[in-house]
Amino acid sequence: MKSNHVKKAVIPAAGLGTRFFPATKTIPKEMLPIVDKPTILYVIEEVMKAGIEEVVLIQGRGKTAIEDFFDVSYELEEKLVQDGKEALLKDLNYIRNNMNIISLRQKSALGLGHAIQCSRSVIGDEPFAVLLGDEITLSSTKSENITYFLCEQYKKNLASSVWVLPIDKNQSEKYGIVDVGSSSDSSLTGGVKISGVVEKPKPQKAPSGWALPGRYVFSPKIFEYLDQVKPGHNGEIQLSDAMHAMAQKENIYAYSFQTRRYDAGDKLGYLIANIEVALDREDLGKDLLHYLKNKINK
Ligand code: UTP
Repeated sequence: MKSNHVKKAVIPAAGLGTRFFPATKTIPKEMLPIVDKPTILYVIEEVMKAGIEEVVLIQGRGKTAIEDFFDVSYELEEKLVQDGKEALLKDLNYIRNNMNIISLRQKSALGLGHAIQCSRSVIGDEPFAVLLGDEITLSSTKSENITYFLCEQYKKNLASSVWVLPIDKNQSEKYGIVDVGSSSDSSLTGGVKISGVVEKPKPQKAPSGWALPGRYVFSPKIFEYLDQVKPGHNGEIQLSDAMHAMAQKENIYAYSFQTRRYDAGDKLGYLIANIEVALDREDLGKDLLHYLKNKINK
């Protein structure tokens, strides 16, 4: 019998990260730190807190930094233990002991849709979550965890469920934008069936002000639609195009959801994430705030 329980998550992290060049020449942008933790670690923590234990990481050619990050670094880790700093290893050890992380290679960056296609052999015929590796959300409870929320919606409706954010239409060229038809629900907290998706449209062509920031739970049928997609925007295999085709035949529900989120794949978003996370930290917050206040008053 098919399970409606979401047990696996795919994290595509094989993009070229051109917005962060030259930092991304040899390391993926998903390894750039937010204060002292790589972006990808925040994403994996979201998966773990959602109760998912198996993660498929899609990595790019020549970029093994993420795989290495989850491996043991004997010399460094032994030194930390010797120096009485094993507390620093706690979170990483927890993930290594409790999650099954599988690394797959996307041989060339042919698009987000293609990156997801690469996970097919591991996902098989099961529903799965997708979390973009350069988008972070911060939640302290399960009820604030967007991935957990989407998994619950999948269980309830047996249909793909995606997170949408309200945006100013002049920002539409940064996102996939969903078509919510003539829905009269202005908040979308209860979910709405979408009738299409357009990848990075010009504002005048955007079908709505609802954007896809990068959290999804898909039925495995998405792979059939991805198979049919031809290169689209930027010559890439676009997830948005597969979702558009899927929405013509199957239910896909879009939900808005309140949570702290940062687009760490964008320079300004990345800087904001660093400042806000640092302001929350006991060891940094007070001094950083003091510095910022002085800077602003000058
Ligand atoms: P982006 O479009 O933000 O990534 O993809 P990018 O192409 O690396 O960014 P820029 O514009 O050149 O700076 C969203 C997510 O999808 C992954 C990226 O790693 C990112 O997490 N992705 C994108 C892949 O895994 N493979 C791809 O071919 C494209």
